[in-house]
Amino acid sequence: MSSSEHNDLVRANEEHHFPVPDPGLEEHVPRYTDTDPAAATRVYRQVVAMFGLVPLLAIAFVVVYFAVPQDLWVPFLGTHWPLNNMLLGLTGGLAVTLVGLGAVHWARQLMSDHEVVEERHPAGSDPATRTAFLGKLDAGIADAGVSRRKMLLGSLGGALGILAVPALVTLADMGPWPTAAVRRETIEKTLWTEGEVVVNDVNAKPLRPEDLEIGQLVNAEPQSLFDLDGHELITEKAKSALILVRMDPNRIQIPESRRDWHVSGILAYSKICTHVGCPITLWEQQTHHVLCPCHQSTFDLGNSGVVVFGPAARSLPQLPLRVNAEGYLVAQSDFTVPVGPSYFERDSRNDYQDGDQ
Ligand code: FES
Repeated sequence: MSSSEHNDLVRANEEHHFPVPDPGLEEHVPRYTDTDPAAATRVYRQVVAMFGLVPLLAIAFVVVYFAVPQDLWVPFLGTHWPLNNMLLGLTGGLAVTLVGLGAVHWARQLMSDHEVVEERHPAGSDPATRTAFLGKLDAGIADAGVSRRKMLLGSLGGALGILAVPALVTLADMGPWPTAAVRRETIEKTLWTEGEVVVNDVNAKPLRPEDLEIGQLVNAEPQSLFDLDGHELITEKAKSALILVRMDPNRIQIPESRRDWHVSGILAYSKICTHVGCPITLWEQQTHHVLCPCHQSTFDLGNSGVVVFGPAARSLPQLPLRVNAEGYLVAQSDFTVPVGPSYFERDSRNDYQDGDQ
């Protein structure tokens, strides 16, 4: 229904039904692209140009992905950023933005903008109405110029299609195929080895047993972590992060199999929650419980890290400790089970269960 037909209907209805006058529709104001064919052509070219830039950006995304090293960091805004990530964000983000801007520019300046009114009516339509509707729909499509401006549709389709390429390429970032051998060298291995020195997470100073008082918790890392940088540093830090706690050995349960894993009541556990991998932080000195802030899983560090509450299904992995000849705390080995959340292939048979000896 056109706006003048609608306004006639409103006037007719007002006389009989409506106590509050319907203001009706404002008169339609043509856009500059409706009155100036040259302007319409200009807008048409702008939209095609926006869609046309998308494949170039998608190619640039793929080139950056393979050509810019992931461990190249550059100074920006007072800190250092990974160049690869920045360029991927720039090219991918700009490509998606151009698709959106092009579509909006097309809709606002080229498609028909005649106001239409849909009267309320019963939900079901009779066949005659449906036929009339389909006729209007076809007329609307013709009016939008979609069939005349085939290049717009083609360039939009091409732009959207080519965006699948960067999405597919980034699948490679999911890492190598996780065969058992790959897992053993990646997610099932940390920097902790026999004799690796335990250092304070903040100042990288090696820790001695006398640095911890009973009831104290310290965040720690392997000393060799501080020789790494870039991507490797972040990956290894996420896996090797440790919490050291000192408790009175007479007030905690130490199973026979772990009798020599502590040093005078100092025990070391993975800092990574076994639910979905948040760093656990909240230490309750009196109960020996540590709480994960993400979903409140609670682990009893006075009982080999068993879960006492929350969604985590596995105990916190414990790291066997000893003291070296210089009197520093060191690891006896790597963790005996993989740290962090579960995954399909993970073997949980060696996880500590409450009551194990
Ligand atoms: S990640 Fe720790 S409880 Fe969910």
